[in-house]
Amino acid sequence: MSRSDPIGVFDSGVGGLTVLHECLISLPGEDFVYLGDSGQFPYGTKPADELRQRAEQVAGHLLDRGVKMLVIACNSATAAAGDEIRRLGAEAGVPVVTVVGPEAEIAATISGNGRVGVLATPATVSSGAYRRALDALGRPLTVTEVAAPDLAPIIQEGPSFDEAVLDTVRGYCAPLREAEVDTLILGCTHYPLVAPMLQRMLGRDVNLVTAGHAIAAAIQRELAGRDELAEGRIEGDYRFLVTGDVDAFAEVGTRFLQLPLSGRAEKVEV
Ligand code: DGL
Repeated sequence: MSRSDPIGVFDSGVGGLTVLHECLISLPGEDFVYLGDSGQFPYGTKPADELRQRAEQVAGHLLDRGVKMLVIACNSATAAAGDEIRRLGAEAGVPVVTVVGPEAEIAATISGNGRVGVLATPATVSSGAYRRALDALGRPLTVTEVAAPDLAPIIQEGPSFDEAVLDTVRGYCAPLREAEVDTLILGCTHYPLVAPMLQRMLGRDVNLVTAGHAIAAAIQRELAGRDELAEGRIEGDYRFLVTGDVDAFAEVGTRFLQLPLSGRAEKVEV
């Protein structure tokens, strides 16, 4: 691998753009190739075995393209296949950075009352990944996990914010309010895109924890340690590989990233 190779990032759709956004800010000189597996969206309601196989396939595709680092910008994929993909990366000599661990650490550190909520897809909640990550930190915490099967699909469409959407989100927030969490992990990379709505429903005092910033810092540390940081460049390149509808992805992605995606997104078979 050389410092001029791109960093590969993937998610089931547009959610991982919340991680890419932080990377573009913190690592402006790097090149990124983002794979949005929207042809297989949603990941979060797939059975664990199916999801693990698919996530490994997508990771393998990016590794075959010669990325110098792989970022799993999807909680569901990390929960189902994080260990396997780390192994694939190690075989290829490519470091793998994932979500889940960084948010758990931040939440355990900033929670005042020790009541931490996790809002995530059914796949992530049923994997127990957050519970294990939080338990491993050794701080006594009361954890309330809520599975939100409909939230990522609402966001993936380009959220419409009508009464039905508000009711759905209110329903997901109710057990978190009841549990009096003071810190909520947004355990799906799609969710930061509706952070204002969640903050309003939970109240200003609840900390919303997302992964992007911590992931960008982890990438920087890892690349610096390997002497593979792209240096001396002001703006690197960013490109998108999409397994589903490229135009729909580019339209929603442009809005979310506030960068033009058209001409940078292409269809790919995985
Ligand atoms: N963005 C993905 C995650 O972080 C999941 C959305 C989905 O495909 O269900 O879990």
